[in-house]
Amino acid sequence: MSSAELSVFIRAIGVHAPARTLTNAELSGMVDTSDEWIKTRSGIAERRIAAAGEAPSDMGAKASAQALSRAGLTPADVDLLIVATMTPDVPFPSTACLLQAKLGLRRDIPCFDVSAACSGFVYALQVAKDMMRSGAYRRALVIGAEKLSSVVDWSDRTTCVLFGDGAGAALLETSPEPGVGLLANLLGADGNNAELLHCAGGGSASPHTGDSLREGRQFLRMNGKEVFRHAVRVMAESCERVLAQAGLTSEQVAWFIPHQANIRILEAVAGQLNVGMDRFPSNLARYGNTSAASIPLALEEAWQDGKIKHGDLIMIVAFGAGLTWGATLLRWHEPPR
Ligand code: ACO
Repeated sequence: MSSAELSVFIRAIGVHAPARTLTNAELSGMVDTSDEWIKTRSGIAERRIAAAGEAPSDMGAKASAQALSRAGLTPADVDLLIVATMTPDVPFPSTACLLQAKLGLRRDIPCFDVSAACSGFVYALQVAKDMMRSGAYRRALVIGAEKLSSVVDWSDRTTCVLFGDGAGAALLETSPEPGVGLLANLLGADGNNAELLHCAGGGSASPHTGDSLREGRQFLRMNGKEVFRHAVRVMAESCERVLAQAGLTSEQVAWFIPHQANIRILEAVAGQLNVGMDRFPSNLARYGNTSAASIPLALEEAWQDGKIKHGDLIMIVAFGAGLTWGATLLRWHEPPR
Protein backbone atom coordinates (compact mmCIF):
# COMPACT_ATOMS: atom_id res chain seq x y z
CA MET A 1 0.00 0.00 0.00
CA SER A 2 1.38 3.44 -0.84
CA SER A 3 1.73 5.91 2.01
CA ALA A 4 -0.88 8.14 0.29
CA GLU A 5 -3.49 5.60 1.32
CA LEU A 6 -2.78 5.65 5.03
CA SER A 7 -5.84 5.83 7.28
CA VAL A 8 -5.89 8.17 10.28
CA PHE A 9 -7.76 7.18 13.44
CA ILE A 10 -8.28 8.45 16.99
CA ARG A 11 -5.93 6.31 19.04
CA ALA A 12 -6.77 7.94 22.40
CA ILE A 13 -8.78 10.80 23.80
CA GLY A 14 -8.40 12.98 26.90
CA VAL A 15 -10.27 15.88 28.47
CA HIS A 16 -9.94 18.56 31.09
CA ALA A 17 -12.70 20.62 32.69
CA PRO A 18 -11.87 23.38 35.18
CA ALA A 19 -12.86 22.68 38.80
CA ARG A 20 -15.16 25.68 39.27
CA THR A 21 -18.82 25.10 38.39
CA LEU A 22 -21.07 28.11 37.75
CA THR A 23 -24.75 27.21 38.13
CA ASN A 24 -27.80 28.86 36.61
CA ALA A 25 -28.84 29.86 40.13
CA GLU A 26 -25.57 31.78 40.57
CA LEU A 27 -26.02 33.46 37.17
CA SER A 28 -29.52 34.53 38.21
CA GLY A 29 -27.83 36.59 40.91
CA MET A 30 -25.55 38.25 38.33
CA VAL A 31 -27.98 39.14 35.48
CA ASP A 32 -31.77 39.25 35.02
CA THR A 33 -32.32 35.59 34.14
CA SER A 34 -33.58 32.35 35.69
CA ASP A 35 -32.69 28.68 35.84
CA GLU A 36 -35.98 27.94 34.09
CA TRP A 37 -35.28 30.36 31.15
CA ILE A 38 -31.75 29.09 30.61
CA LYS A 39 -32.76 25.43 30.77
CA THR A 40 -35.78 25.71 28.48
CA ARG A 41 -34.06 27.99 25.91
CA SER A 42 -30.67 26.27 25.85
CA GLY A 43 -30.65 23.03 27.87
CA ILE A 44 -27.77 24.33 30.01
CA ALA A 45 -27.82 23.85 33.81
CA GLU A 46 -24.22 24.72 34.67
CA ARG A 47 -20.84 25.37 33.08
CA ARG A 48 -17.18 25.23 34.14
CA ILE A 49 -15.14 28.39 34.58
CA ALA A 50 -11.34 28.39 34.42
CA ALA A 51 -9.36 29.96 37.27
CA ALA A 52 -7.69 33.34 36.73
CA GLY A 53 -4.29 31.88 35.82
CA GLU A 54 -5.66 28.83 33.98
CA ALA A 55 -5.16 29.35 30.23
CA PRO A 56 -6.30 27.24 27.23
CA SER A 57 -2.71 25.95 26.93
CA ASP A 58 -2.90 24.67 30.53
CA MET A 59 -6.25 22.96 29.99
CA GLY A 60 -5.13 21.58 26.62
CA ALA A 61 -1.90 20.25 28.14
CA LYS A 62 -3.88 18.38 30.82
CA ALA A 63 -6.27 16.89 28.25
CA SER A 64 -3.28 15.88 26.10
CA ALA A 65 -1.45 14.31 29.03
CA GLN A 66 -4.51 12.18 29.74
CA ALA A 67 -4.76 11.07 26.09
CA LEU A 68 -1.03 10.19 25.99
CA SER A 69 -1.19 8.32 29.28
CA ARG A 70 -4.25 6.34 28.13
CA ALA A 71 -2.34 5.39 24.98
CA GLY A 72 0.75 4.40 26.99
CA LEU A 73 2.78 7.00 25.06
CA THR A 74 4.95 9.96 26.00
CA PRO A 75 5.29 13.52 24.64
CA ALA A 76 8.29 12.33 22.61
CA ASP A 77 5.92 10.16 20.53
CA VAL A 78 4.00 13.18 19.14
CA ASP A 79 4.95 14.37 15.62
CA LEU A 80 2.45 17.21 15.09
CA LEU A 81 0.37 19.51 17.32
CA ILE A 82 -2.67 21.52 16.26
CA VAL A 83 -4.71 23.57 18.71
CA ALA A 84 -8.18 24.80 17.78
CA THR A 85 -9.16 27.83 19.83
CA MET A 86 -10.98 31.16 19.52
CA THR A 87 -9.61 32.26 22.90
CA PRO A 88 -5.82 31.89 22.48
CA ASP A 89 -3.66 32.50 25.58
CA VAL A 90 -2.19 35.61 23.83
CA PRO A 91 -2.46 37.08 20.28
CA PHE A 92 0.93 35.51 19.54
CA PRO A 93 2.76 33.20 19.73
CA SER A 94 0.25 30.46 19.10
CA THR A 95 -1.37 28.57 21.95
CA ALA A 96 0.09 25.46 20.31
CA CYS A 97 3.66 26.70 20.87
CA LEU A 98 2.91 27.53 24.51
CA LEU A 99 1.32 24.11 24.94
CA GLN A 100 4.27 22.41 23.25
CA ALA A 101 6.57 23.86 25.91
CA LYS A 102 4.23 22.99 28.81
CA LEU A 103 3.80 19.41 27.65
CA GLY A 104 7.48 18.95 26.74
CA LEU A 105 6.86 17.97 23.13
CA ARG A 106 9.83 17.60 20.76
CA ARG A 107 11.25 20.71 19.07
CA ASP A 108 11.35 19.19 15.58
CA ILE A 109 7.56 19.11 15.15
CA PRO A 110 5.11 21.63 13.64
CA CYS A 111 2.89 23.34 16.24
CA PHE A 112 0.17 25.79 15.20
CA ASP A 113 -3.34 27.05 15.95
CA VAL A 114 -6.45 26.78 13.83
CA SER A 115 -8.97 29.62 14.18
CA ALA A 116 -12.45 28.43 13.19
CA ALA A 117 -14.33 29.14 16.44
CA CYS A 118 -16.74 26.34 17.38
CA SER A 119 -15.88 24.44 14.18
CA GLY A 120 -12.19 24.51 15.13
CA PHE A 121 -11.89 20.91 16.27
CA VAL A 122 -13.46 19.58 13.06
CA TYR A 123 -11.22 21.86 10.96
CA ALA A 124 -8.10 20.82 12.90
CA LEU A 125 -8.91 17.12 12.56
CA GLN A 126 -9.07 17.49 8.81
CA VAL A 127 -5.84 19.51 8.59
CA ALA A 128 -4.06 16.89 10.72
CA LYS A 129 -5.46 14.02 8.66
CA ASP A 130 -4.32 15.59 5.39
CA MET A 131 -0.83 16.21 6.80
CA MET A 132 -0.60 12.65 8.14
CA ARG A 133 -1.93 10.64 5.21
CA SER A 134 1.32 11.13 3.33
CA GLY A 135 3.15 9.31 6.13
CA ALA A 136 5.15 12.42 7.08
CA TYR A 137 3.67 12.43 10.60
CA ARG A 138 2.70 9.27 12.46
CA ARG A 139 1.01 10.77 15.53
CA ALA A 140 -0.70 14.10 16.06
CA LEU A 141 -2.37 15.79 18.99
CA VAL A 142 -5.48 17.70 17.92
CA ILE A 143 -6.79 19.84 20.74
CA GLY A 144 -9.84 22.01 21.28
CA ALA A 145 -9.17 24.35 24.21
CA GLU A 146 -11.22 27.38 25.19
CA LYS A 147 -11.55 29.96 27.91
CA LEU A 148 -14.74 31.63 26.73
CA SER A 149 -15.28 33.10 30.19
CA SER A 150 -12.53 35.59 29.24
CA VAL A 151 -14.45 37.00 26.24
CA VAL A 152 -17.98 36.83 27.63
CA ASP A 153 -19.63 40.04 28.82
CA TRP A 154 -20.88 38.98 32.25
CA SER A 155 -23.47 41.76 32.20
CA ASP A 156 -25.05 40.57 28.90
CA ARG A 157 -27.71 37.99 29.72
CA THR A 158 -28.21 37.09 26.06
CA THR A 159 -24.72 35.53 25.85
CA CYS A 160 -23.21 34.99 29.30
CA VAL A 161 -25.57 32.13 30.17
CA LEU A 162 -24.48 30.05 27.17
CA PHE A 163 -20.71 29.59 27.34
CA GLY A 164 -18.15 27.67 29.41
CA ASP A 165 -14.48 26.65 29.53
CA GLY A 166 -12.70 23.35 28.93
CA ALA A 167 -10.44 21.29 26.68
CA GLY A 168 -10.37 17.99 24.84
CA ALA A 169 -7.53 16.25 23.02
CA ALA A 170 -7.54 13.55 20.37
CA LEU A 171 -4.34 11.64 19.73
CA LEU A 172 -4.41 10.68 16.06
CA GLU A 173 -2.34 7.90 14.55
CA THR A 174 -1.87 6.57 11.03
CA SER A 175 -2.80 3.01 10.12
CA PRO A 176 -2.15 0.99 6.95
CA GLU A 177 -5.60 -0.62 7.39
CA PRO A 178 -8.14 0.96 5.01
CA GLY A 179 -11.56 2.11 6.21
CA VAL A 180 -10.68 2.90 9.83
CA GLY A 181 -10.80 6.25 11.56
CA LEU A 182 -11.58 9.50 9.74
CA LEU A 183 -13.48 8.54 6.59
CA ALA A 184 -15.18 11.50 4.90
CA ASN A 185 -15.54 15.17 5.67
CA LEU A 186 -16.70 18.57 4.59
CA LEU A 187 -15.64 22.06 5.69
CA GLY A 188 -17.25 25.37 4.82
CA ALA A 189 -17.33 29.06 5.68
CA ASP A 190 -19.29 32.25 4.97
CA GLY A 191 -17.40 35.39 5.96
CA ASN A 192 -20.27 37.55 4.71
CA ASN A 193 -22.04 36.68 7.95
CA ALA A 194 -19.04 37.37 10.19
CA GLU A 195 -20.89 39.94 12.26
CA LEU A 196 -23.53 37.50 13.47
CA LEU A 197 -21.05 36.26 16.07
CA HIS A 198 -17.85 38.17 16.64
CA CYS A 199 -15.53 40.14 18.87
CA ALA A 200 -15.16 43.61 17.34
CA GLY A 201 -12.07 44.94 19.10
CA GLY A 202 -8.59 44.00 20.14
CA GLY A 203 -7.19 42.94 16.77
CA SER A 204 -4.80 44.91 14.56
CA ALA A 205 -7.73 46.50 12.67
CA SER A 206 -9.10 47.92 15.89
CA PRO A 207 -6.62 47.83 18.77
CA HIS A 208 -8.05 48.44 22.22
CA THR A 209 -8.30 51.97 23.52
CA GLY A 210 -9.87 53.25 26.70
CA ASP A 211 -13.03 54.02 24.69
CA SER A 212 -13.23 50.62 23.00
CA LEU A 213 -12.91 48.89 26.37
CA ARG A 214 -15.61 51.12 27.87
CA GLU A 215 -17.83 50.24 24.89
CA GLY A 216 -17.24 46.53 25.58
CA ARG A 217 -15.61 45.78 22.21
CA GLN A 218 -13.42 43.16 23.88
CA PHE A 219 -16.46 40.93 24.34
CA LEU A 220 -18.21 38.34 22.20
CA ARG A 221 -21.44 39.64 20.61
CA MET A 222 -24.02 37.49 18.93
CA ASN A 223 -27.27 37.66 17.02
CA GLY A 224 -28.64 34.51 18.67
CA LYS A 225 -31.71 34.06 16.49
CA GLU A 226 -29.80 34.31 13.20
CA VAL A 227 -26.99 32.08 14.46
CA PHE A 228 -29.59 29.52 15.52
CA ARG A 229 -31.21 29.53 12.08
CA HIS A 230 -27.91 29.14 10.19
CA ALA A 231 -26.65 26.50 12.64
CA VAL A 232 -29.59 24.16 12.10
CA ARG A 233 -29.49 24.47 8.32
CA VAL A 234 -25.74 24.02 7.77
CA MET A 235 -25.27 21.29 10.37
CA ALA A 236 -28.07 19.17 8.86
CA GLU A 237 -26.87 19.86 5.29
CA SER A 238 -23.24 19.08 6.19
CA CYS A 239 -24.23 15.69 7.65
CA GLU A 240 -26.30 14.87 4.57
CA ARG A 241 -23.51 15.84 2.18
CA VAL A 242 -20.85 13.85 4.04
CA LEU A 243 -23.15 10.82 4.12
CA ALA A 244 -23.77 11.15 0.38
CA GLN A 245 -20.00 11.42 -0.18
CA ALA A 246 -19.51 8.17 1.77
CA GLY A 247 -22.47 6.44 0.08
CA LEU A 248 -24.18 5.93 3.45
CA THR A 249 -27.45 6.93 5.10
CA SER A 250 -28.12 8.42 8.52
CA GLU A 251 -29.55 5.04 9.58
CA GLN A 252 -26.05 3.57 9.38
CA VAL A 253 -24.59 6.16 11.74
CA ALA A 254 -24.55 4.90 15.34
CA TRP A 255 -23.93 8.29 16.98
CA PHE A 256 -24.08 11.93 16.01
CA ILE A 257 -21.76 14.06 18.16
CA PRO A 258 -22.62 17.66 17.34
CA HIS A 259 -21.04 20.83 18.67
CA GLN A 260 -22.84 21.43 21.96
CA ALA A 261 -24.35 24.89 21.40
CA ASN A 262 -28.01 24.63 22.39
CA ILE A 263 -30.20 21.57 22.96
CA ARG A 264 -32.89 23.08 20.71
CA ILE A 265 -30.35 23.33 17.85
CA LEU A 266 -29.48 19.67 18.39
CA GLU A 267 -33.16 18.68 18.41
CA ALA A 268 -33.83 20.63 15.22
CA VAL A 269 -30.82 19.06 13.43
CA ALA A 270 -31.87 15.58 14.60
CA GLY A 271 -35.40 16.31 13.32
CA GLN A 272 -34.13 17.40 9.90
CA LEU A 273 -32.04 14.25 9.63
CA ASN A 274 -34.94 12.13 10.85
CA VAL A 275 -32.78 10.72 13.65
CA GLY A 276 -33.93 10.21 17.26
CA MET A 277 -32.31 12.26 20.02
CA ASP A 278 -31.21 8.94 21.57
CA ARG A 279 -28.44 8.95 18.91
CA PHE A 280 -27.43 12.56 19.73
CA PRO A 281 -25.55 12.28 23.06
CA SER A 282 -25.29 15.65 24.82
CA ASN A 283 -23.39 16.99 27.82
CA LEU A 284 -24.57 20.56 27.25
CA ALA A 285 -26.40 20.60 30.59
CA ARG A 286 -23.11 20.37 32.52
CA TYR A 287 -20.68 22.30 30.30
CA GLY A 288 -22.64 24.78 28.19
CA ASN A 289 -21.07 25.80 24.89
CA THR A 290 -17.29 25.27 25.11
CA SER A 291 -16.71 26.08 21.42
CA ALA A 292 -13.82 24.03 19.95
CA ALA A 293 -13.63 21.89 23.12
CA SER A 294 -17.25 20.76 22.99
CA ILE A 295 -16.95 17.89 20.49
CA PRO A 296 -13.98 16.15 22.14
CA LEU A 297 -15.64 16.62 25.56
CA ALA A 298 -18.89 15.08 24.27
CA LEU A 299 -17.10 12.32 22.36
CA GLU A 300 -15.03 11.30 25.38
CA GLU A 301 -18.09 11.25 27.60
CA ALA A 302 -20.15 9.14 25.18
CA TRP A 303 -17.25 6.70 25.00
CA GLN A 304 -16.71 6.63 28.80
CA ASP A 305 -20.45 6.04 29.26
CA GLY A 306 -20.08 2.91 27.14
CA LYS A 307 -22.31 4.24 24.36
CA ILE A 308 -19.72 4.25 21.58
CA LYS A 309 -18.40 0.82 20.63
CA HIS A 310 -15.51 -0.35 18.46
CA GLY A 311 -16.52 -0.18 14.78
CA ASP A 312 -19.39 2.30 15.27
CA LEU A 313 -19.87 4.94 12.61
CA ILE A 314 -19.88 8.40 14.19
CA MET A 315 -20.73 11.76 12.64
CA ILE A 316 -19.22 14.80 14.31
CA VAL A 317 -20.61 18.09 13.11
CA ALA A 318 -19.96 21.68 14.13
CA PHE A 319 -20.95 25.23 13.44
CA GLY A 320 -19.48 28.50 14.68
CA ALA A 321 -18.33 32.06 14.25
CA GLY A 322 -16.93 32.95 10.84
CA LEU A 323 -19.39 31.68 9.95
CA THR A 324 -17.75 28.27 9.74
CA TRP A 325 -19.00 24.70 9.70
CA GLY A 326 -17.73 21.18 9.22
CA ALA A 327 -18.64 17.52 9.52
CA THR A 328 -16.51 14.39 9.74
CA LEU A 329 -17.65 10.79 9.49
CA LEU A 330 -15.43 8.38 11.37
CA ARG A 331 -15.32 4.71 12.23
CA TRP A 332 -14.54 4.36 15.93
CA HIS A 333 -11.44 2.47 16.91
CA GLU A 334 -11.83 1.51 20.60
CA PRO A 335 -9.15 3.54 22.43
CA PRO A 336 -7.44 2.39 25.65
CA ARG A 337 -9.06 3.61 28.89
N1 ACO B 1 -32.65 35.25 30.60
C1 ACO B 1 -33.90 35.74 30.50
N2 ACO B 1 -34.35 36.32 29.37
C2 ACO B 1 -33.51 36.41 28.34
C3 ACO B 1 -32.19 35.93 28.39
C4 ACO B 1 -31.77 35.35 29.59
N3 ACO B 1 -30.53 34.85 29.76
N4 ACO B 1 -31.59 36.15 27.21
C5 ACO B 1 -32.50 36.75 26.42
N5 ACO B 1 -33.66 36.91 27.11
C6 ACO B 1 -34.91 37.51 26.65
C7 ACO B 1 -34.72 38.39 25.45
O1 ACO B 1 -34.33 39.69 25.87
C8 ACO B 1 -36.08 38.35 24.83
O2 ACO B 1 -36.91 39.25 25.53
P1 ACO B 1 -37.96 40.16 24.70
O3 ACO B 1 -38.88 39.17 24.06
O4 ACO B 1 -38.58 40.97 25.79
O5 ACO B 1 -37.14 40.93 23.74
C9 ACO B 1 -36.57 36.94 25.13
O6 ACO B 1 -35.76 36.47 26.22
C10 ACO B 1 -36.47 35.98 23.99
O7 ACO B 1 -35.16 36.11 23.45
P2 ACO B 1 -34.76 35.37 22.15
O8 ACO B 1 -33.43 35.86 21.69
O9 ACO B 1 -35.91 35.39 21.20
O10 ACO B 1 -34.61 33.88 22.69
P3 ACO B 1 -34.35 32.60 21.85
O11 ACO B 1 -35.42 31.64 22.10
O12 ACO B 1 -33.96 32.92 20.43
O13 ACO B 1 -33.04 32.03 22.55
C11 ACO B 1 -30.66 31.90 22.37
C12 ACO B 1 -31.86 32.80 22.62
C13 ACO B 1 -30.59 30.87 23.49
C14 ACO B 1 -29.40 32.75 22.39
C15 ACO B 1 -30.81 31.19 21.01
O14 ACO B 1 -31.14 32.12 20.02
C16 ACO B 1 -29.58 30.44 20.61
O15 ACO B 1 -29.19 29.47 21.24
N6 ACO B 1 -28.93 30.83 19.49
C17 ACO B 1 -27.75 30.14 19.00
C18 ACO B 1 -26.58 30.57 19.81
C19 ACO B 1 -25.36 29.73 19.56
O16 ACO B 1 -25.43 28.54 19.43
N7 ACO B 1 -24.21 30.37 19.51
C20 ACO B 1 -22.97 29.73 19.44
C21 ACO B 1 -22.55 29.36 18.08
S1 ACO B 1 -21.04 28.57 18.11
C22 ACO B 1 -19.66 29.60 18.28
O17 ACO B 1 -18.90 29.78 17.34
C23 ACO B 1 -19.31 30.26 19.59
